[in-house]
Amino acid sequence: MSSFLEIKKQALKELKGAKNLKELDRVYKKYLGRKGEVFLVLRDLKNFSENKRKEIGKEINLIKKDIEDAIKEKQKILKERATDEIIKKERLDITIPGKKIEKGHLHPITLTLRKIQEIFQNMGFSIVEGPEVETEWYNFDALNIPQDHPARDAWDTFWLKPKNLKLLLRTHTSPVQIRYMEKNQPPFRIIAPGRVFRHEATDASHEVNFFQLEGLMVDKDISLANLKGIMESFMKQFYGQDIVLRWQPAYFPFVEPGLELAMKCRTCKGKGCSVCGNQGWIELVGAGMVHPEVFKAVGYNPKNWQGFAFGWGFDRLVMMKHKINDIRLFYNSDLRFLKQF
Ligand code: FA5
Repeated sequence: MSSFLEIKKQALKELKGAKNLKELDRVYKKYLGRKGEVFLVLRDLKNFSENKRKEIGKEINLIKKDIEDAIKEKQKILKERATDEIIKKERLDITIPGKKIEKGHLHPITLTLRKIQEIFQNMGFSIVEGPEVETEWYNFDALNIPQDHPARDAWDTFWLKPKNLKLLLRTHTSPVQIRYMEKNQPPFRIIAPGRVFRHEATDASHEVNFFQLEGLMVDKDISLANLKGIMESFMKQFYGQDIVLRWQPAYFPFVEPGLELAMKCRTCKGKGCSVCGNQGWIELVGAGMVHPEVFKAVGYNPKNWQGFAFGWGFDRLVMMKHKINDIRLFYNSDLRFLKQF
């Protein structure tokens, strides 16, 4: 009998020490399982007389029940504890401040474009847009650059497949002039900013994909003096007085006469200048008086209308403004560069 009590004592002791449901299961199997201690005692009952069997059987059943009850009780406690732990682990603390989402900002090209648009709008210009995928007609022919004209070589073109469609990535924003004039009658003054593409090697001032800002003003008595006045007024508003401008003759088939405007900072030290970060004179814009052939292509009578057009290299404009010495910085998504604006 004392060994039965010993079993119970030992079982209750182990039960007490069980720290989790797994350990409890082990105790259960050890004492109440099919080959457990209690089972072994019951199996041996056959060796006793009937009276003794009854007496021991009764006793052992009581012990079995005590152990079962104790296990149930402990199981309840351990289950509650396990649930508490899960709740503790998975609890959402809604008072913890949220993760800060870093705010982005506009690209320096976009920021500058907005400023420039404002300046031109104040001078009475409207803003228009044109497609980046153009036809050969708008990009070249209508601008007085027919097939086989040597001037086409100046614009290394990305032609799109299939070739027979004669579609290309526009090499400049000048086709927007044609698209606008086809649909509108003078007088008007417009600017057309946008992305352009050229199949050429890149360096500090040349990119494959860059921005231009086209301008066009058409009226009865427009002259080079108007062009010069508008451009110089814009430059002063955009850069202040710290720049020097240089007009020089240039050839573009869609203007006559043609000009180029170059600039440098007033105190420029030339290549690597620490004031403007640039290389001395930088060519910014092509311009001139709209060629009569262009007016004819859009159905205007060149005897009735005069106009000037210009095409800024927009990236270079921003480069001069912010002392950036390599155009490729605009396009390689380096946050160390972009975060400075
Ligand atoms: C043109 O593209 C003419 N459509 C401009 C024009 C418009 C002339 C209206 C007359 C009337 P050009 O190829 O020179 O011209 O380019 C104009 C400007 O774009 C250049 O002065 C230069 O500032 C810029 N540019 C040219 N090529 C690149 C390049 N690869 N990367 C960055 N900027 C460039």
